[in-house]
Amino acid sequence: MCGIFAYLNYQVPRTRKEIFETLVKGLQRLEYRGYDSAGIAVDGPNKTTTDINGNTICLIKKTGKVKALDEELYKKDTLDLDEKLNTHFGLAHTRWATHGEPSALNSHPHRSDKDNEFVVIHNGIITNYKELKKYLINKGYEFESETDTEVIPKLIKYVYDNRENDSITFSTLVERVIQQLEGAFALVFKSRHYPGEAVSTRRGSPLLIGVRSEHELSTEHIPVQYNSGHFKEEVQEKNSHNRPDCSNAINSVGNGKAVEYYFASDASAIIEHTNKVLYLEDDDVAVVTKGELSIHRVNRQAGEDPVRAIQTLQMELQQIMKGNFDAFMQKEIFEQPESVVNTMRGRICFDSNKVVLGGLKDHLKEIKRCRRLIMIGCGTSFHAAVATRQILEELTELPVMVELASDFLDRNTPVFRDDVSFFISQSGETADTLMALRYCKNRGALTVGITNTVGSTICRETDCGVHINAGPEIGVASTKAYTSQFVALIMFGLMMSEDRLSLQERRLEIIKGLNVLPELIKQVLSLDLKIKAIANELYQQRSLLVMGRGFNYATCLEGALKIKEITYMHSEGILAGELKHGPLALIDTQMPVIMVIMRDACYVKCQNALQQVTARSGRPIIICCKDDSEMTKNAYQTIELPHTVDCLQGILSVIPLQLLSFHLAVLRGYDVDCPRNLAKSVTVE
Ligand code: F6R
Repeated sequence: MCGIFAYLNYQVPRTRKEIFETLVKGLQRLEYRGYDSAGIAVDGPNKTTTDINGNTICLIKKTGKVKALDEELYKKDTLDLDEKLNTHFGLAHTRWATHGEPSALNSHPHRSDKDNEFVVIHNGIITNYKELKKYLINKGYEFESETDTEVIPKLIKYVYDNRENDSITFSTLVERVIQQLEGAFALVFKSRHYPGEAVSTRRGSPLLIGVRSEHELSTEHIPVQYNSGHFKEEVQEKNSHNRPDCSNAINSVGNGKAVEYYFASDASAIIEHTNKVLYLEDDDVAVVTKGELSIHRVNRQAGEDPVRAIQTLQMELQQIMKGNFDAFMQKEIFEQPESVVNTMRGRICFDSNKVVLGGLKDHLKEIKRCRRLIMIGCGTSFHAAVATRQILEELTELPVMVELASDFLDRNTPVFRDDVSFFISQSGETADTLMALRYCKNRGALTVGITNTVGSTICRETDCGVHINAGPEIGVASTKAYTSQFVALIMFGLMMSEDRLSLQERRLEIIKGLNVLPELIKQVLSLDLKIKAIANELYQQRSLLVMGRGFNYATCLEGALKIKEITYMHSEGILAGELKHGPLALIDTQMPVIMVIMRDACYVKCQNALQQVTARSGRPIIICCKDDSEMTKNAYQTIELPHTVDCLQGILSVIPLQLLSFHLAVLRGYDVDCPRNLAKSVTVE
């Protein structure tokens, strides 16, 4: 979707050049969220401004990646790069086009008028923008872009123009604006009327604020300030026994001392500056005035947490850097021996064969009593559910539904109070998955999050969950998150079956398999050169089929998705059992086919499929177990993998396809980490 970044320095002198560098660096970290165009807003001369009262805002926007914007910044001869700004607030945005083509005009920041009185950056989608736009046009406001976002700066100016008195605060204006907005948004506002002040808010889209100060922060918890007249004393506090006593806490951070604030869509953009962050809740309005950060809300809802904690992030910058790899995706593929260990760490005891997922243990009884498990996700996360469905059915002895979030909602799927619904999401922010979560919650089902992003919306809104702990995933094509989701779901099955005598042998076999998994992944990664050679043969093809069944069907779906998303080749994951029912018509000497045939219960059936392919003169590349002479005999090429337990084999068999898609994309000359038209975190429907 889009990436938001903003930087405020209060009493910390920074040259304009340093400010540009900070803004650009922040955007580069968020570029995976969208890279159609980028823009910034900083204090500085605005050519069209007529009424100069000392504060002018300069907007610089550029189509293309952040690099293009970076070059553009230094072409502005009107801006003195060495000028020291003691206090300054700058906005930056990288866009993934939803409404309106990628162009400088449609890029953010958007403005209220030609004088840039109010400017705003937005991530999300305003669903009632057409009505608002019509209303504002009738009132005489002129629009210049095709975006939904532009109604926001126009609306704030309208509220400002119609203010009852001059003492109205910036945050009050924003509170009034968001009451009119429908849809999802994370917003940061800057205004000529409120120099050095920042206002940000969110609903449904992620936004966090990093704080850096040489001084001790005056508080670790900020009590929310509710607008007077709306505070209801009788409202019950959620988890009040766990809440810090904030009766004497200071209402803001900063306390008049030198301080810097970073506003961002996610922590990867701020971690190099600070590890102190505050996550905003829906409809929070965070305000920085004279260097002090405070949180405001219009209304207090029942059960609402009246405190926002400043948390300390554990993430290291080096975790999100590329290191010696050419692309983040490549680095993330090679991280899998460690990322799966991190998923298991502290959760599996290989001596006692005990598996404990701390986030689920209090709900285990309820889960065991449920009617069925519903696994919901999109794209790769959905494939993780497909990959583990069979073993979860076996270990939990419960019916398991796997659902694409969008389709699940389209069907108005019946959900019951005794259902347990799982929401699988790397980012924890995917709009379709989030809406499915709210849908299930409204129907009384227990909701479980399986996410990689601590503090994400899905984490916060589910009743309980598991962090897969794969570390930040930056490449748009998901790789290590898939294998970690896979492992996390298997661990859930193991935890559920701990007291089932009849399943102990099976459990033991899987736990042993998990213990050696990192080593086996390393062995698969060592096939990289061979896979690169295969890519060399295939990269000019237009199409690529990937076929398999049983535990490896998900591998085919996931492999085909990787290929299509980063190489732009047509690729299809085909269930080998369906071959005769249509796909066989595609097979000839020209069509490249990859078959996944492992030694498991489907082996013989897969061999039949293989014969059908070779009988039609197909030349299959087979991903199979080591030393399977039957396969080497019939294949055009083989990729031989170490053998493991059937239900874990998919973790190994997907890796050659991850590597193949990477090499194909490089050979075809594409940017692996930023595939066209895609974004890492899809926060709109
Ligand atoms: C494919 C990919 C997408 C995501 C999907 C869901 O490589 O990354 O298919 O898996 O958009 O995203 P999350 O897991 O963040 O909910």
